[in-house]
Amino acid sequence: MATLRLGDKAPDFTVDTTQGSLNFYDYLGDSWGILFSHPSDFTPVCTTELGTAAKFKDEFDKRNVKMMALSVDGVESHHEWIKDINETQNTTINYPIIADEDRKVADLYDMIHPNEDSTLTVRSVFIVAPDKSIKLILTYPASTGRNFYELLRVIDSLQLTAYHKVATPANWKNGEKVVVSPAIPTEEAKQLFEKGVEEVKPYLRFTPDPLAPTQV
Ligand code: BEZ
Repeated sequence: MATLRLGDKAPDFTVDTTQGSLNFYDYLGDSWGILFSHPSDFTPVCTTELGTAAKFKDEFDKRNVKMMALSVDGVESHHEWIKDINETQNTTINYPIIADEDRKVADLYDMIHPNEDSTLTVRSVFIVAPDKSIKLILTYPASTGRNFYELLRVIDSLQLTAYHKVATPANWKNGEKVVVSPAIPTEEAKQLFEKGVEEVKPYLRFTPDPLAPTQV
C-alpha cells in the first residue's frame, strides 16, 4: 500500500457502518468529506470526540461537508457504544461510523501505525474535496483528542483557497484578511481584488477575505 499524500485520489471503499452498507464515493456525492478514525469503542477520548462531532454537524453541513467516522470494532459494538455517547455527551450521533473489524479501510488509509499500536488506529483525519482529491491529512496519537474548531477553521481555509487566488496566514479565522497567492504580481492582484491590496513586502500582500461581507 502506497502512502497517501495531499492531492492523491481518496481510495474508494464499500463497508458496513452504523447506517448500513455504504460506498464512500456514493455517500459523499458532490460534497466535501471528512473521514476520521478512532482507536476503538468504549474509550474515553473517542467518546468525547464522537459526541462533539455530532454537535458540530450543523457547522459541517453549512460547509457542505459530510462526516464519516471509523472504529475497528463491529456494528453491534458501535450501536451499544452510541447509546453511551448519546447519554454521556448529551447528543445524538447523526453520521455513520464504519465498523472496520477487518481493518480494510484502516489499511487503505494507513491509519494503523505499528510502532504506536499494532492493532488500533491512530486518530487520522482526511478531508476530501468534491473531486475526491485529498486536501488535508492530520494524524494525532490516541492520547490526544482533536480540536473540532480547528477542523472547521481548516475547512474554511481549504474551501476559500480552492476557489480564490489567496492563502490564509497563521491563526487565520473566517472573515479575517488573507494573503495574495505568491504567483500573482501585485499589479495584477490590484485588478483582481476589488477590496484592495496592502503590500507589506513584494512577496507579502494582504487583501480582505473575498467572502467577508463588505463593510459600509
Ligand atoms: C481514548 O479514546 O480515550 C483512548 C483510546 C486508546 C488509547 C488511549 C485513549
